[in-house]
Amino acid sequence: MDANHFPLTPIIHPWVHDFLEQKEAIYAAIAQHGSPINVHNMTPFDENLSAFKKTFDSYGLKSKIFFARKANKCKFLVEQAQQLNHGVDTASYMELKQALEVGVPAANLVCTAAVKNRKLIALAIEAQVPLVLDNEDECTLIQTVAEEMNTTVPIQVRLSGFIVAQQLLPSRFGFERKKAYALITESLGKDKQFDRLLYQGLHFHLNGYSIPQRAISLHQCFDLVAELKADGIPTKSVDFGGGILINYLKDRKEWEAFQEALKEAVLHKREALTFQNDGLGLMNIEGRLYFDMQVYPYYNEVNKTTFLEQILTFQGDGPKNIFQRALEQDIELRIEPGRSSLDQVGITIAKVAFRRYHTDGQLLIGLEMNRTQLRSASADFLLDPIHISQGEAAKGESCEGYLVGAYCLEQELILKRKLYFHQLPQVDDLFVFINTAGYMMHFYESEAHLFPLAKNFVYHTAHKMLEARD
Ligand SMILES: Cc1ncc(COP(=O)(O)O)c(C=O)c1O
Repeated sequence: MDANHFPLTPIIHPWVHDFLEQKEAIYAAIAQHGSPINVHNMTPFDENLSAFKKTFDSYGLKSKIFFARKANKCKFLVEQAQQLNHGVDTASYMELKQALEVGVPAANLVCTAAVKNRKLIALAIEAQVPLVLDNEDECTLIQTVAEEMNTTVPIQVRLSGFIVAQQLLPSRFGFERKKAYALITESLGKDKQFDRLLYQGLHFHLNGYSIPQRAISLHQCFDLVAELKADGIPTKSVDFGGGILINYLKDRKEWEAFQEALKEAVLHKREALTFQNDGLGLMNIEGRLYFDMQVYPYYNEVNKTTFLEQILTFQGDGPKNIFQRALEQDIELRIEPGRSSLDQVGITIAKVAFRRYHTDGQLLIGLEMNRTQLRSASADFLLDPIHISQGEAAKGESCEGYLVGAYCLEQELILKRKLYFHQLPQVDDLFVFINTAGYMMHFYESEAHLFPLAKNFVYHTAHKMLEARD
């Protein structure tokens, strides 16, 4: 192996191997619909959601899973969640409207939109979908719309400002606990200022992926539930949002080796591993490393159900852990998994358009796609793509280089990381990006240059059939 090659081998669900054997269907889909294409399979979606449900059940808890649709725009996922009787977390008018059209009942919906306009609020009220309250102006608007419609609406109050290890968790969302208590006891419900807003439960979603932060915040929710109960106000549910980690990579050693090597490269102690030695957040200032990698933690031994279990069994300073307190207070626990519902659900495939060299000598492989079609908040997507060669050309000629895309920018890299190719990619070869359904394929996609958005497909394993779907 090349001394400067640090592979990051992705975990690959069996459906992907099966699908990649259908080469004719793949080439036909790209010929008809253009490159790239996004391909989904429902088996891992079902597996992920039912595993979360089973985990709650194993503790005897009342629970509800709401697939956070913002992580992938495809309507067929909402249909699938509906068929499995799971919930859907909606974050915009269109997300809510489509979920209602699909037939998801109000009890299986929640509206967590960060900005709720009159149109969205009216739709939620009409369908009696719980609205998650973020601020007082929202209370006023919901009250006004509900008065106009002469009805009431179920409400969950979003909490923030949790204190963890004596530190305030900063947030732009929700009500800090004392304000939430005052709002619920003094302003919501019958004969109060917001008498159309009927309190049902508490809600939060935290940035990042910390188990203790989530569990300690849940403990603080249960403290508030007890205070409200003492005032005669029952709480039905506590929703602790998303942020459940997944594991993208096969090998811890590879992940650690890459991170170490990246640091060395940024310090100029080895050849660059990234385009123009991008530190992915790390910075070399006068020979010393500053800041951290700004990337998703791609390797996680604790993930999905084990992550959830560690929250449920987290005790903290008090005598009881989370699941014991939920049982004792008769609270339904809710989650809104986005990325973790979609683990292994989708892949993105793009066609090679050209090979060329950068003026600095680096090999560039041009793909028929742009970087918004494989993009999240993470500084890079650190998984090796699969290279599918069409022909026999150039066997044995290994090389390294970068994947570049169609936007007219010098920095238009599909991946910032330098890749190692077993043979020189040829025009019309394919690159397959693994595990892209959660955020990667849709969250930042744009139509700059009037490039059409990528087509989405479902692969039906039983019939080995690829179906174009919204
Ligand atoms: C309110 C809320 N719920 C759920 C999610 C989904 O989070 P994740 O995809 O990390 O599970 C988000 C993501 O931003 C969110 O804002």
